[in-house]
Amino acid sequence: MTTWLQCDACSTRFDLLEPIARCRQCRGLLALASDLGPTDLARRFADQGSCSPALRRSGVWRFRDLILPEARDADVVSFPEGNTPQVQRARVAEWAGCRRLWLKHEGMNPTGSFKDRGMTVAVTHARRLGARAVACASTGNTSASLAAYAAHAGLLGVVLIPAGKTALGKLAQTVAYGATVLAIRGDFDACLDLVDQASERLGLYLVNSINPLRLAGQKSIVFELLEDRAWRAPDWIALPAGNLGNTSAFGAALQQAHALGLIDRIPRLAAVQAEGAAPFARSYREQFAQRYRVEADTVATAIRIGNPASHDRAVAAVRGTNGVVTMVSDQDILAAKREIDQAGVGCEPASAASVAGVRRLVREGTIGPDEDVVAVLTGHILKDPEILLRDRGDVVREIDPTLAAVEAAIASAGQR
Ligand code: F0G
Repeated sequence: MTTWLQCDACSTRFDLLEPIARCRQCRGLLALASDLGPTDLARRFADQGSCSPALRRSGVWRFRDLILPEARDADVVSFPEGNTPQVQRARVAEWAGCRRLWLKHEGMNPTGSFKDRGMTVAVTHARRLGARAVACASTGNTSASLAAYAAHAGLLGVVLIPAGKTALGKLAQTVAYGATVLAIRGDFDACLDLVDQASERLGLYLVNSINPLRLAGQKSIVFELLEDRAWRAPDWIALPAGNLGNTSAFGAALQQAHALGLIDRIPRLAAVQAEGAAPFARSYREQFAQRYRVEADTVATAIRIGNPASHDRAVAAVRGTNGVVTMVSDQDILAAKREIDQAGVGCEPASAASVAGVRRLVREGTIGPDEDVVAVLTGHILKDPEILLRDRGDVVREIDPTLAAVEAAIASAGQR
């Protein structure tokens, strides 16, 4: 059995252990390819014999056969991660107009976002390659995850973030875990261009979501989501879409699960962008006739991305799942977030885009009110405390330290 890197564009193959982020021939994106057929893989996976008890505790590594079969136990850098809850909350379902709405909360990963699922695989691979340093551009969550996993692996972590546009919780985490943080006077897209060049020049191993190991790890969101439902596929999976790595990983995972016979039909993907950062949604409206680049702006800073790197792969994911792409306003994102927060679940603004997207698609008649839908919440509520308090800070009332004042305040709260 062998796994190799293969260029999406020109099909050139490279050894898995080449420390490259892009194709050396044409700079296309690289994917993992393997000579294991679906039947062999399905057998290996069902057997689970290759997974040690320690790895089985990770919601990523217990799917090792479907992700990176040749990862060696000794190399694995795992928290462990994954095993995130999939819950139903009547309040959110009602708001979205979708009775059978499930929330898969990826914010419950070790650093508070789904990024840990890809990062454990990319950093494991970096260690196997003997890399000294790992680097990424980030709107904040990838950087927090990189910083934590680099610290765990004893590697130098370098992150490029857009200056002044990274949510406080993410920045604080990244600093605390000990990464080298470079705040770039530019947007995320500029950071990605820069780190792409710098990684080649300076020998840093690039772990942005163009890295195929990251995407392989992120497939585990879908595997776990399906496994939790005893491999009965939902009708839809909705997710927020920015740089489109996750959309691509979801598409690949669904195709793989279907090819292996783990599910008997492929759920439809609903990729949701913020109106102010919606180049992919715009392209979708034109049947992907062309690719767009926009100046992005949205309250959901995680998906404030104007030139998504994984556009082509995400097109394949949407087409391959008979999926849709939509966009929602910042106002709708914050309204969805309020519902999710007040249901006691909570998430960061970008994550709420998935639920706001479901609501829009139900209203438009694309998603039926009785269809079975999983919306993925990608990040934790504490990632962006500033937006939270800007939106809801007025509920905090400062009062005098007297019983009378407490009594009056509680009485008036009861009347609200
Ligand atoms: N939700 C959250 C919370 C994110 O942090 C991101 C991306 C996305 C959704 C979108 O995922 O880019 O794969 O389409 N955050 C990246 C970062 C860009 O740097 O943390 P995508």
